[in-house]
Amino acid sequence: MNNNTVLVMGHDGYIGHALTLRLLKLGYKVIGLDDLTRRRAVENQMESVSAIDIDSPYKREEECKKYGEFVWFSNDTAMLYDPIYEAIEKYKPATIFNLANQPSAPYSHIDNYHCMVTATTNIFSTMNVIWAMKEHVPDAHLIQIGSMGEYDPNINIDIEEGLFSFKHKGRKSKESLFPRRPGSFYHASKVCASYYLDAAGRFWGLKSTDIMQGVVYGNWTPEIEETGLETRLDTDEAFGTVVNRFAVQSLMNTPMTIFGSGKHKRGFLALDDSIQCLQLALENPPSNGYQTWNQLDTIYSMEEVAEAVQSVIGGKKQYIETPRVEHADTHYYNPITKKLENLGFEPQRSIKEEVQDIARKVNQSNFEILKNVVIPKISW
Ligand SMILES: NC(=O)c1ccc[n+]([C@@H]2O[C@H](COP(=O)([O-])OP(=O)(O)OC[C@H]3O[C@@H](n4cnc5c(N)ncnc54)[C@H](O)[C@@H]3O)[C@@H](O)[C@H]2O)c1
Repeated sequence: MNNNTVLVMGHDGYIGHALTLRLLKLGYKVIGLDDLTRRRAVENQMESVSAIDIDSPYKREEECKKYGEFVWFSNDTAMLYDPIYEAIEKYKPATIFNLANQPSAPYSHIDNYHCMVTATTNIFSTMNVIWAMKEHVPDAHLIQIGSMGEYDPNINIDIEEGLFSFKHKGRKSKESLFPRRPGSFYHASKVCASYYLDAAGRFWGLKSTDIMQGVVYGNWTPEIEETGLETRLDTDEAFGTVVNRFAVQSLMNTPMTIFGSGKHKRGFLALDDSIQCLQLALENPPSNGYQTWNQLDTIYSMEEVAEAVQSVIGGKKQYIETPRVEHADTHYYNPITKKLENLGFEPQRSIKEEVQDIARKVNQSNFEILKNVVIPKISW
């Protein structure tokens, strides 16, 4: 097995592109598999653009080849299984990142069709990759990004990492995965993918790391800075995550739209810190079977996010009716993050630094389009 080869499914995405540059910088050979679904969905379905201009996939491919050893296949990894089997058989990667997912909760709630696309993409890509690994690289390590939204944020106890046991009617249970209660149909598909990885670990000993990640924000990594090869930054209601949306709303002089009271809390981390964690995952595979951890830096309420953005750019807050089912205004929220700490994770970037970076890089001529897409219309 060539231990220097990494397959990145979804390499053209927000996180995938930043990860690819990091891996190339570190000297890995990167095989990218991405059918450009995200680009098409933003442009054609959300009628939006990335607030920060990005290269075409072909220019990006050309530039990545200059930066390191890089190959790209433009194939669907969910509805087709041949491309994954062929890539894995040919390149025998030691590590595989599966980021080729539909990553948006609102998108999965548009209608039956979008919900089905979410489920098939996120579950089938997992299914395809585990079977291809079993056949061609049974000792390789699969890294997938799940979501903190797989858990119920209002569960009212610490959200543990990995195995968990509980007492019921005087009996102590065996260890099982920490209880899930997904916050959207998207998150339900991620829960399902997590169970596939756990099952493949128990049935076949397939090595996987399943990352329960918080909300990622910002656009900065040292490799992006060095090469100028930006990753995308979306602000539309499906693909824009909250820090990025608030930053661009403020830059456009439109109010930051806070859902409900803005008191509900989530875990966040900067893009560069997410990439640091993915590197730690690559360097620390489980010896056998499934491992999982919680991946975030700081917990903020949505109001606190707005205040952080305000302190850098200014701008106004507007409280709007929440399109989501959020049960508790104030709630106990304490995800445990010891595993990454023990591996040496040290967050490097703050919201304020990222907001400054976004302000420096957005293309203001995109505002005409972005003004029409930031207000949420999808509800659940
Ligand atoms: N961005 C976040 O805040 C965040 C938070 C938690 C978890 N995650 C997870 O991290 C992963 C990456 O997220 P992201 O924000 O970079 O999303 P993204 O949409 O930018 O990246 C996904 C990439 O996969 C590709 N893709 C999708 N379906 C495909 C298919 N069927 N065949 C081939 N390629 C396909 C897309 O074109 C895109 O380039 C996802 O699994 C997402 O659920 C993201």
